Amino acid sequence: MKKFIYSLFIAFALWSCGGSSNGDANQSAGSEKPAAEVKADDGKGVGEITNVKLNDPLNQDMVKRGLAIYDMKCSACHKLTAQRVVGPGFAGVTDRRKPEWIMNMITNVEVMLEEDPAAQALFEECLTRMPNQNVSIGDARDILEFFYDNDQGK
Ligand code: HEC
Repeated sequence: MKKFIYSLFIAFALWSCGGSSNGDANQSAGSEKPAAEVKADDGKGVGEITNVKLNDPLNQDMVKRGLAIYDMKCSACHKLTAQRVVGPGFAGVTDRRKPEWIMNMITNVEVMLEEDPAAQALFEECLTRMPNQNVSIGDARDILEFFYDNDQGK
């Protein structure tokens, strides 16, 4: 009995904080990845988005669409100020991150949390995995436009 309780304790210790089990499983299954993925970190994150063209001035239609998506899919966990709720507040996110990184985080969050050092550091602070919100690349671009607008208006 004592032994059983002890192993329960170990199991719990391994499970809690960060050791999200399917993440680890995916990592060990990834050994046959192409070597190209082990490139130096360019701050753009991991995913399809490698080059974003920014609008100057901002496109207000995109800003509006981005705001609507934010209200619907993101506001439960993210504020527009610097205050953290479940995830970090969005104020200043366009200064902290490259636009490509932001869009990859939105559209490819599982891989980002496994492979991108900045995303992993955030996860260590927040202790919750951002769920995949099924955001299309077009919608993520609108959200990005909205983030720039939010940071300009401060
Ligand atoms: C259930 C809560 C939750 C929802 C809903 C959510 N996120 Fe997140 N988000 C997080 C957490 C937690 C993090 C920190 C990374 C981690 O721990 O996974 C994060 C991190 C981020 C970051 C990085 C922020 C930074 O400071 O670098 C961006 C960008 C982001 N989320 C965008 C979005 C967008 C856009 C949506 C809506 C489409 C969204 N998130 C919906 C929880 C959430």
